[in-house]
Amino acid sequence: QNVMPAPQPLKGKLALVTAGPTVEPIDPVRFISNHSSGKMGIAVADALAAAGASVKLVLGPTRYTPSDPAVETIHVRTAAEMFSSCIANYPMSDIVVMAAAVADYRPKTMEDKKIKKGDEGMTLELEKTHDILRTLGNNKGQDQLLVGFSLETNNEKEYALKKLREKHLDLIVLNSLKDEGAGFNHDTNKVTLFDRDGRETPLPLKSKQEVAKDIVSAIIELQHEK
Ligand code: CTP
Ligand code: CA
Repeated sequence: QNVMPAPQPLKGKLALVTAGPTVEPIDPVRFISNHSSGKMGIAVADALAAAGASVKLVLGPTRYTPSDPAVETIHVRTAAEMFSSCIANYPMSDIVVMAAAVADYRPKTMEDKKIKKGDEGMTLELEKTHDILRTLGNNKGQDQLLVGFSLETNNEKEYALKKLREKHLDLIVLNSLKDEGAGFNHDTNKVTLFDRDGRETPLPLKSKQEVAKDIVSAIIELQHEK
């Protein structure tokens, strides 16, 4: 029996996706990181590929990988490595989805020998990392579509809209850690989409694969409206 070929609305488009945590070394045996599993961003990469896009995934350390072998994965560890990889791939990208949980701070110096404990407490000096998405937003081309995530515990809508505006995004995906079954390491997620035209779309709790499909549908719609 004949099967209808899947529609490929993003055929010919290049998509850049980031996912997972970044890891910032303190010394050879220690690091600063966060709880991101990468599942949400990986699902977005798969969904973009399923819609016909050529996808590059810049992935922080995680044991998960995309299921579509057509997704080209670039493994990185630190925010600085993720920044370089994104900057290098940005000019030719039509769609960028920054789902990675990028560290906001890193240790000012990485000790080359293991730090020995003393009798007192210790203070670790941190410096800011580059805000990758803000940099991309400030350099956005006419036809580029930029999607960010916003992870919040309070004042969710206000903070999400501030990031949408300040980082020059077309779409932001609000992840509220208040919601049951949402966020880190779950297989499900409950998000609200806010777009550049002021539309607000709350999605019900569903699998990260289903959420990813909804994000891709919103991307396709926003592309048509450009
Ligand atoms: N982001 C980024 N580079 C950073 C920090 C964040 O590209 N150094 C991106 C994230 O991938 C996400 C968006 O910016 O798409 C928002 O990240 P989030 O941590 O929610 O917001 P911040 O702007 O870092 O502000 P804060 O953590 O203070 O809420
Ligand atoms: Ca942050």
